[in-house]
Amino acid sequence: MVHRSAWGESMGRCQGAGSATGRRVAAALAILIGLALGLGALGCGSGEGDGGSGASKSSEPPVDPHAPPSVDAAALAKKAAAVFGKLPAAAEKETNPLTPAKIDLGRMLYYDTRLSKNHDVACNSCHKLDAFGVDGEPTSPGHRGQRGERNSPTVYNAALHLAQFWDGRAEDVEAQAKGPVLNPIEMASPSEEHVVGVLASIPGYVTAFAEAFPDDETPLSYDNMARAIGAFERKLITPGPFDRFLAGDLDALDPAERRGLDAFLSLGCISCHNGATVGGLQYRKLGQIFPYETKDPGRFNVTGNEADRFVFKVPSLRNVAETGPWFHDGSITSLEEAVRLMGYHQLGLTLEPKQIADLSAFLRSLTGEIDAGYVARPELPANGPDTPAPDPN
Ligand code: HEC
Ligand code: HEC
Repeated sequence: MVHRSAWGESMGRCQGAGSATGRRVAAALAILIGLALGLGALGCGSGEGDGGSGASKSSEPPVDPHAPPSVDAAALAKKAAAVFGKLPAAAEKETNPLTPAKIDLGRMLYYDTRLSKNHDVACNSCHKLDAFGVDGEPTSPGHRGQRGERNSPTVYNAALHLAQFWDGRAEDVEAQAKGPVLNPIEMASPSEEHVVGVLASIPGYVTAFAEAFPDDETPLSYDNMARAIGAFERKLITPGPFDRFLAGDLDALDPAERRGLDAFLSLGCISCHNGATVGGLQYRKLGQIFPYETKDPGRFNVTGNEADRFVFKVPSLRNVAETGPWFHDGSITSLEEAVRLMGYHQLGLTLEPKQIADLSAFLRSLTGEIDAGYVARPELPANGPDTPAPDPN
């Protein structure tokens, strides 16, 4: 009963937000309302100790009385698989085909500090591929140690999001990759021409761009740099125990993780953190029910629309246990605290310690496996005679 009313309330609140945050949310809501019909039954029918929902045949052995109480794992896996969908192996994009040559080039560029003014900052400085795509800092040091206002999100699974950045200001990973290279507090290169000049001075890159973009008249360009990095990022996908559970391996999640998944669905977390990425597919207000104090206006900066104040891209919760500190400003230092705040500010709920523990256990099961071979630091091509020197200023 508790579950049903909480879900109903959260759905009502979602609709309120729909008018504020535009068509994409409205479209997502249409899907979610459909899902809610199926979920109501899940949230109410699979609570602890109610014996599961599968019909039991009289010939089956009696249930072990010492078994820990748990939700009916098979029914939960089936419902959740339908609700979240399957994580793809790559975020394919028709206009940027993922060829091996392009991906290899993108990997080199991702690790290359020569894209920065002082040859000391690379994409991998803030989005460390051997650390789940983050640097573990609230905000990240860039050129001359300067820091911005926002936490570095992970690059893993990011190509599957509806847009890039906390406020969605870049359409896709290709558009995104052009930003940090020229951002004065990140990599601080003075201009696109400068970056193209640096790359063109490195003979190994001249060859690599020609191989990656064989049909282009000018293979070595700033746009193609971004395309190559984007192509590399499109395969930074991390399936894990959660995906094995959805595929029917019921032991992939332990009882606490399964209870957490059940709560995630029935309490309404799923209304915002939806899809195979468990987020990244909608813009929603931080402080949906009870205001959340932050000086970051979020998506308002992009649209200038008053209704978008404090609206952020809902983050993907894939690998979230490894990507702290949390929230757009990196101000939250424990996963449990992030969950508690979400329950209160986004759903109007005061979560019980046990619910917080279960939800956090579920979130830990979203930690995936990194393909160490794919992300291994490649050998970078050597400087040519005309490669500019680092500029510390
Ligand atoms: C100095 C640290 C720093 C460097 C260097 C850096 N980034 Fe970022 N990155 C950030 C921060 C901070 C954000 C979030 C900014 C915002 O949302 O306004 C971000 C956002 C992103 C996102 C969006 C992810 C999402 O979930 O929205 C991607 C993708 C990304 N960076 C890739 C890259 C690539 C590729 C490079 C190299 C070309 C790079 N970054 C260099 C700090 C950095
Ligand atoms: C109304 C939409 C909404 C609902 C419902 C919601 N969230 Fe969130 N969630 C967000 C937004 C937006 C953020 C980004 C917060 C920020 O920018 O600081 C977020 C952030 C998070 C984070 C931090 C992620 C990170 O990388 O920093 C966690 C963890 C999280 N949510 C878990 C949950 C859980 C668990 C629930 C259910 C109890 C839930 N959320 C319900 C919208 C929602």
